[in-house]
Amino acid sequence: MFNDTFISESLATALQQRRQKLAQLIDFPVILWAGGNVSRNFPANTFPFRASSHFLYFAGLPIENAAILLSNGKLELFADNPTPSNALWHGEMPSREDIAQQIGAEANFPLAELPSRALNAATIAVQDPLTYAQQCQILNRSISLKDQNIDLALAKAIISLRILHDAEAIAQLQTAANVTVNAHRAGMAATLTAKTEAEIRAVMEGAIAAENMTCAYQSIVTIQGEVLHNGQYHHPLKPGDLLLADVGAETALGWAADVTRTWPVSGKFSSTQRDIYDLVLAAHDACIAKIKPGVEYQDLHLLAATTIAEGLSHLGILRGNAEELVAADAHALFFPHGVGHLLGLDVHDLEDLGDLAGYAEGRTRSDRFGLNYLRLNRPLAAGMLVTIEPGFYQVPAILSDRERRLKYQNLVNWDRLAQFSDVRGIRIEDDVLVTATGSEVLTAQLPTQAEDIEKSVKI
Ligand code: GLY
Ligand code: MN
Repeated sequence: MFNDTFISESLATALQQRRQKLAQLIDFPVILWAGGNVSRNFPANTFPFRASSHFLYFAGLPIENAAILLSNGKLELFADNPTPSNALWHGEMPSREDIAQQIGAEANFPLAELPSRALNAATIAVQDPLTYAQQCQILNRSISLKDQNIDLALAKAIISLRILHDAEAIAQLQTAANVTVNAHRAGMAATLTAKTEAEIRAVMEGAIAAENMTCAYQSIVTIQGEVLHNGQYHHPLKPGDLLLADVGAETALGWAADVTRTWPVSGKFSSTQRDIYDLVLAAHDACIAKIKPGVEYQDLHLLAATTIAEGLSHLGILRGNAEELVAADAHALFFPHGVGHLLGLDVHDLEDLGDLAGYAEGRTRSDRFGLNYLRLNRPLAAGMLVTIEPGFYQVPAILSDRERRLKYQNLVNWDRLAQFSDVRGIRIEDDVLVTATGSEVLTAQLPTQAEDIEKSVKI
């Protein structure tokens, strides 16, 4: 089956430029597979198809079961034409020839021709197991990023391109950001009359679906903000609760947004909620203010950690000076994740390659409690899109852990902390493009100030 999304002239030009740039970086052929449909329980009932992001980056369209061969900047498409049965169940689809023309392929062949053209080609492993098995079979070898092989060289070349977004990508990312901003506004405006998390999720995802887009990841819409990737929506909303919504749209061509806001169900933060909200916002704003080419992303993470530690010390929750608290990882009791990640065709962009994109050459993850979940540790450069998403959480698994309580017994005022029991989890997340001179927040139209958030709920 083929996709009937239209490729604009400017996208066709951008795709060609991406392929030419790749050809300047490597001197071996490349085959990229789109991947296929994954079935749920019986073959005809499939999960929505999502093409491999590497395929999308160079081919532009999500073409199920297709592969492209890239060689010296030239593109060849391998796919089977739609069958009469495809037309019966899914409607008329463009032919392989039509698709090849749209994506700028110089030649096109049935899939059966691929094995004879696959000699010495590099690839990137796709996620769906059936296509992955085909990749290994057609290339007649395993796919690995561990050895200094052509797959690793290809991955590094693709990272160097995908990590710096071109104008066509930025336009798509801005579209995803705009729709996401509207989804969050709709979620806030629906809260006073909604009874459950599920209702708010429906409103937010509805705003995305109404633009014919999908969600870039499983939405988090929860009064249990301390569960970092909460996937449940059944809780009733009660005055006094904070609602944390981490919801992002994905355009039809696959580009993502990733935004979090936290708002009071009643439309008014309590004084304790407001204290913590303002300090998370201070960390968020401090990081964004520092973003420009050359800045180390890890330093932004440490800035967020220091800002949060300082705020918690002022509130009497932590004891001591911010730098010393961060050196002891005390901030991570309440801010246990990294301050953000790369964003692009995937919400955690390029993480199918492990830390190869997120960590600069020669760097590896720290085993420190306060740094271990940092997904990005490289200097920023113009064209990168990153999230900035500091948070504060009271995670029982962390705060009730005997060893941790013992280790941090003198640094935490547990009695004071108990006064903040109505703050389970707060996160504020925006999508920030690094520009030549500083940054541009693609999601800036969504308020962050506490009063503006309250107004948006009470609208
Ligand atoms: N939006 C979920 C995450 O960044 O992990
Ligand atoms: Mn995120």
